Formats: sequence, structure tokens, C-alpha cells
Amino acid sequence: MPGTCVIGLQWGDEAKGKIVDLLTERHDIVVRYQGGANAGHTVVTGGQTYKLSLIPSGILRPAVQCVITGGVVVNPPTLLAEIDDLTNRGVPVAENLMISDRSHVIFPWHIVQDRLTEGCASNGEAIGTTMRGIGPCYSDKVGRAHAVRLGDLYRPGLAERLTRIVEHKNALLAALAGNQGFAPFSAEQVHREYAHYAERLRPYVADTTTFLLDALEAGRNVLFEGAQGALLDVDHGTYPYVTSSNSSGVGITAGAGVPGRYLHKTIGVVKAYCTRVGGGPFPTEQNNEIGSHLRQRGNEYGTVTRRPRRCGWFDAVAARYAARVSGVDTLAVMLLDVLSELDEVKICTAYELNGRRLTSFPSHVDDLRQAVPIYETLPGWCQNISHARHLDELPKNALRYLARISEAVGRPVEIVSVGADRQQTILAQDAPRGHAVAQPTG
Ligand code: IMO
Ligand code: MG
Repeated sequence: MPGTCVIGLQWGDEAKGKIVDLLTERHDIVVRYQGGANAGHTVVTGGQTYKLSLIPSGILRPAVQCVITGGVVVNPPTLLAEIDDLTNRGVPVAENLMISDRSHVIFPWHIVQDRLTEGCASNGEAIGTTMRGIGPCYSDKVGRAHAVRLGDLYRPGLAERLTRIVEHKNALLAALAGNQGFAPFSAEQVHREYAHYAERLRPYVADTTTFLLDALEAGRNVLFEGAQGALLDVDHGTYPYVTSSNSSGVGITAGAGVPGRYLHKTIGVVKAYCTRVGGGPFPTEQNNEIGSHLRQRGNEYGTVTRRPRRCGWFDAVAARYAARVSGVDTLAVMLLDVLSELDEVKICTAYELNGRRLTSFPSHVDDLRQAVPIYETLPGWCQNISHARHLDELPKNALRYLARISEAVGRPVEIVSVGADRQQTILAQDAPRGHAVAQPTG
């Protein structure tokens, strides 16, 4: 089974890092193929917490090769800081990390541009980006005239290229900044700084497409680690309140250069409830004490930006859509422990839009904004479930909730997480017969 994929099925922050870390044991290679340092993947192991934004979560297992492919946008100082931090904590990075020469480089002007264009979504509203320069860098990639790939940093002509780009960017940013003003960039200074980063990154830079194709053809096990979630996908998410890459399952082939025939299994990761950071519609949002309860118990603050996350009930209409688009086989349901101590729990199984019941996910954001969730209410459970390691240690009502999620999304539940640590995990296929939550009915 060479290619396994881990994809978030909500608006990011589904605890994908933990699932990748668990599965890494059975894989030789872990791959990040889209997004950039807008991702914040947390892995807790042996009482230590690691926060990763660019380096694949597989880096914590010394036998695993980690790959950042050409679909990723790389900010060199951020990547180097992450490498240094891991190295200082005794994690072997030098032997285990490879970065594509096709990946695109984020420059300081992308970050300034991100700030100056916030509020300029096509409808004039704020997207609430992570301000990491992700959108402007991907725009330049597609626009081609002002982009630099990692491999370009090692080629002659870089100084001239940067001079041309900086001239354009200074004019553009001056126009965007207007009265606010901004400090223009010096091409020489950027060149000097990036030449230094390039030297430090040199040992890691490689043609990762060929490396991955060779590995897959040789039957090695490769794990693809998605960043963000399917509902933030630039083509299939809640546009324009999305990120600038294909963060659903469809992004793997383009981002990694790997044909779909090698992708044999996809695990869709969902929280047992829903969160969103930044702007955009969120039908099941609970702007009330339920939302505060979830935020507090789930520590729902952004890993990258520390912004409080918006919280709400599980949206099965959205998750089912995301699972279908991403080709999901099984579900990992995360943070189930956060729902303890609620009298009742709700699952949105349909929307009402213009007086009609809707079970498909609307393609236009205006419709999603007007969609009123139709909920099924289930009894809650008050027990602390963070010590459960088998399904039969979960309260009956928690099992009922999981079974209903599985049925509504149309996929079996394979993994249940009841805490951040590697140990706080239930593998549903280990369940004794009669306790299967794994059977969707259609
Ligand atoms: P992980 O990998 C949650 C959101 C931002 C904003 C929108 C666009 O940790 O799940 P961007 O900076 O990408 O242009 O912002 O996307 N966003 C995320 N939300 N988790 C993430 O990553 C996210 N990456 C981007 O909040 O709404
Ligand atoms: Mg995150």
C-alpha cells in the first residue's frame, strides 16, 4: 500500500499532525505537498510538544524521510528557524529532510502585500489570513513574472532577477499602501540575505518529484500530509474565504507530482465539532456559551496566530462533501473528549435554504451564509474519556454520537482521539464485535 493520505475535512486545525505522527510508524516517507507556514501542526509525544509549520510531522521519527514538494511555498527564515529548533531539541533533521527545488520562495514583500490586501477579497471583506504571505506568493507563482523558485537561488542571474522584481514590488506596495506608506526594499540587501539562506538550505534541496516517483515505483510506503482542510481549498472550498492552494485531497497529485494510481488510502480527519479561524460563513457556529465551552475545553486558539477560533457543532453536510471531494476511505474523529460534560450534543445533517431542505453543500458562499442548519440532537455524556483506549471504555452516548457521525458522513470511523498525546488514541478496528462504530449505512 504505497500511498496513504491524511486530509482535513473542515476548515483546518483538525489535529492532522497527531494522525500523521501515528501513521508515520508504518511509512518510510512523509510528504508536505501544499500550503506553507500558514499551517500549524502540533505533535505531543513523551510529554514534549512540537509545533511544526513547514516540516512534515514525520520528522519526529528518526527512520522517516521527510519531503517538502514543489507545491509548497517556503519562507526560508521560517524553515531555518524550524530546522534549528528541532536540531537543538535533539531531533535529527539534517539526514531526514528534503525540499523541492520547484517550491516557491516567500519574500518579505509577500508578507507586506498580504497585510495591505487584507480586506480586498473580491467582495471587499476581510479573509482573515494568517499574514504569512501565502496568497501573494501563490499569486506570483501563477503570474510567473515575479516569482522565484528555490532552485533559482542557486543559478546565475539571481541578482538581476531580484532587482527587476524589487522594482515592481516597491511600486506595487507604494500604490497599495497609499498614505500609510511603507519602507521600500533594497534588492542588494534581499539578495545578500537570501544568498545566505540558500547556502544554509543547500544540503536539503533536491528534485523531490523524481525522488517520490522512484520511491513509489519501488513500493516504498509514502504518507501525504495535507495542510489546512478541504473547506479551505481554493477551488472546492468556501471561496473566497479559502487559502490559496488545493487543500482538499485533489491537491496531492499536482502538489507532489504523483499520479493518483499510487494513492491507495485516504483518511479524512475531523474534529468531533467544528472550528474556523478567519472570516467566512460557518453555518453551525455557536456564538454563545456552547462555543465558549468548546473554545475553552479544546484550547481553540490558533497555533500560528493565537487568534481565538470560532467554534460550533459538527457539520455533517460539509464533512460529507469534503470527504467525497477528497476521496476519503475512513475517518479519524479528533478531540472527542472536548464534548464531555455537555447535556446534549448536536449534529447538523441538512440545511434549510430558501424554504427547502438541502443535503448537498452549496457552491456559492452567499447560499452557505443563508443556510440554516437542521440539527439532530443526541444525549451527551459527563464522564472524562481521556483515559479510554478502547471503544468499549467509551460511554454509550459517545459511541452513539460517533456512529451517527459515521452514518451522516458516509464513512467508517477508523481512529478516535481523546487527547493530544500519542497514547490517547482508540483504534476502532480493534473493537470487540458489537461495538463497531465503523459501519456507515449508506
Ligand atoms: P492547519 O494546517 C486553520 C485560514 C486562515 C484564513 C484563510 C486564508 O493548521 O490546519 P492564508 O494565510 O492561508 O491565506 O489564510 O485560511 N487558514 C487556516 N485555518 N488552519 C490552518 O492550517 C490554516 N491555514 C490557513 O485563517 O481564514
Ligand atoms: Mg493549525
